[in-house]
Amino acid sequence: MHVPFGNMQIHYNQFKQEIDQAVSRVLNSGYFILGPELERFEQEFAQFLGVKHVIGCASGTEAIYLALKAAGVNSGDDVIVVAHTAIPTISAISMAGAEPVFVDIDPNTYVMDVSLIEAKITKKTKAIVPVHLYGQMCEMEPLVDLNRRYGIPIIEDVAQATGATYKLAQAGSIGDYGAFSFYPSKNLGAFGDGGAVCTNSQEGYERLLKLRNYGQSKRYYHDEIGINSRLDEIQAAILSAQLPYLVEWNARRRQIANRYTEGLKDSVVTPVEIEHSPSVYHLYVIQTDNRNALQKHLLDKGIQTLIHYPVPAHLQKAYKYRGLKEGDLPHTEKAAGRILSLPMFPELTDEQIDKVIFEIKEFIKQNPNKAIDPNTNTDPNTNIDSNTNIVVNPALVPANSFTPPTSIR
Ligand SMILES: Cc1ncc(COP(=O)(O)O)c(C=O)c1O
Repeated sequence: MHVPFGNMQIHYNQFKQEIDQAVSRVLNSGYFILGPELERFEQEFAQFLGVKHVIGCASGTEAIYLALKAAGVNSGDDVIVVAHTAIPTISAISMAGAEPVFVDIDPNTYVMDVSLIEAKITKKTKAIVPVHLYGQMCEMEPLVDLNRRYGIPIIEDVAQATGATYKLAQAGSIGDYGAFSFYPSKNLGAFGDGGAVCTNSQEGYERLLKLRNYGQSKRYYHDEIGINSRLDEIQAAILSAQLPYLVEWNARRRQIANRYTEGLKDSVVTPVEIEHSPSVYHLYVIQTDNRNALQKHLLDKGIQTLIHYPVPAHLQKAYKYRGLKEGDLPHTEKAAGRILSLPMFPELTDEQIDKVIFEIKEFIKQNPNKAIDPNTNTDPNTNIDSNTNIVVNPALVPANSFTPPTSIR
């Protein structure tokens, strides 16, 4: 039995009728950009999130960029963010002309350790970007408190957590802005690129409308420097067709996660959730001593896995100029060397999940973990490669070479 990391074809076949109808409606309408489908999706998504405004844009990366600009972030400003994230979170900060100021993660939940932020705040800090990674939201209350005390805007990166909640508030609706990605494999995915920004600020909304459309206030009149970042009518219609299923899909992701956790909790480190913020499991990420060897074992058994992410942003070549070195973000670096993302998508069958569990347990029987409490081993340099018995520095271990289809990442 083959277990893929994701499968957009199964997904399309299940919802073929609704999706085909949506696409055909747009093709027959003659409207392709900034038309009625986008307006409808923006309203439906705002209602779902419980916010006043949503603007559709071209990608999650640009959603973060647009939110930063709308929040007033400019060249030379600092933005506090984690290094343990998809690189586009950081690219968007660079695109806005600002500098990322990295803080470490909580080793249990993999999201921003919010207790580290205050020490990093300076006069140059113009935004904080909590990233709700793998479907798990960050602790938002301390961030709201910082926002009140310092007046620094909070921009939530919700790319991996659409539909997640914190004390029943939707992810994206708590900060000043929420930035979403509709990349195909996301919890709510388009059939191409797409993104959105939500906000309760009327002023912010009006700026976003201009910024995504060449800075234009009315046709051929440009109040500020904007870009072209619009969610097209076809993607908006597809997203409207799928939005009603999001809650159900997220519930299935949680069921899958529970089955994995039940089967694996005595073998590897399984995900830990924040009590009042259940994860929507965009990814199901385990942690283990012999990660690379386990990934190879699973691939040999027909199971595709990925690493999100093998090299943290502060150790990427592009961000070396920020001057951080190995050891500066110990929890981030340790996670990078030990994490593995298992297949996770709503259409995954129980048989497939059980096969993944079985194969991981088989591997662990042969290669027992030293400890499955992520807090036990706090030194990021103490990983031992099972094949060589050599102590390896996890940040320097290349990811195992599995190339998924480009729409899966
Ligand atoms: C955490 C995070 N932020 C931002 C993005 C960027 O989204 P997009 O690929 O739609 O530009 C992604 C997508 O991979 C992501 O996972």
